[in-house]
Amino acid sequence: NRKIILDVDTGIDDALGIMLAVKSGECELIGITTVNGNVSLGKATENTCKILDLLQVGEQIPVVKGASQPLLRPVFFEHSVHGEDGLGGALRGVAVTKQPSEGFGPDFIIEQVKKRPGEVTLVMTGPLTNLALAVKKCPELVELVKEVIFMGGVVKEHGNVTPVAEYNMYVDPEAAKAVFHAGFPELTLVGLDVTRKVLLNEEHIQGLGDTSIGRYVKQSTSDYLQRYFERNGVRACAMHDPLAVGVALFKDLVTTKKLYVDIETRSELCDGQTVCDFQNRLKKEPNMNVCLDVDADAFFVRFIRALKA
Ligand code: BDR
Ligand code: CA
Repeated sequence: NRKIILDVDTGIDDALGIMLAVKSGECELIGITTVNGNVSLGKATENTCKILDLLQVGEQIPVVKGASQPLLRPVFFEHSVHGEDGLGGALRGVAVTKQPSEGFGPDFIIEQVKKRPGEVTLVMTGPLTNLALAVKKCPELVELVKEVIFMGGVVKEHGNVTPVAEYNMYVDPEAAKAVFHAGFPELTLVGLDVTRKVLLNEEHIQGLGDTSIGRYVKQSTSDYLQRYFERNGVRACAMHDPLAVGVALFKDLVTTKKLYVDIETRSELCDGQTVCDFQNRLKKEPNMNVCLDVDADAFFVRFIRALKA
């Protein structure tokens, strides 16, 4: 079984990614580290604990708090996307039982990976701050992890925060830069080019049934669906983070290509832009696998099967 550490800024879609990882039966979830992003570190941590409570796995899976702000930049929340609480208002007022463990996210990543050299997959679905800090502290981490899969960036399409930048990259581009150039042998970018093709709709949600999880998903995504409709004319929720988890669990969901990708950190207009060198103009060795296409139907078959299990 794959051994996974998830790093999240729990948000609506991070929560669905956690659910997929826990319920798929396809991995051992060693732990979850949290990071500032969509919401504050405190809220991201509380939301993560609430989701584990809902899944009734609070006892088994440690949650460890990581960075409370980007490496150099101020925080930049996404309340308009995920709601003030981060979960679209679902679980508001629900008392949280699960408590985070002692320690610091980047240290947890280092310790756990060192215990299992070559075995751990890191799945990152928030800004890359925790991983950048971990690599800075322990450069051997690069050789010790099995692979890193991150939701972030966009290589052919437009951004979702600025015309060119995707949110996770925009929030902490210096952290992303450190990760891109750290030398990970297996680093995979799951960007908006593919995640925007994986759209959860009301039929999928109905397919989850009238269970605690089905009801949670319906409630959590309801405002998102409406906002997406106002902008795009369809009621849907983009499965950004769940797809990154899906890529970790099921290799056949996406088509990838090894390419060189860098990130802009010094531009007024383009900070956070992931620049992919499709034609090798820069004459650099590829530094990651870039997801270029996805089988959305296959994703949903597995996602729904997992959440209903
Ligand atoms: C990413 O940004 C966040 O709002 C989502 O949780 C996802 O990780 C999409 O750009
Ligand atoms: Ca996220």
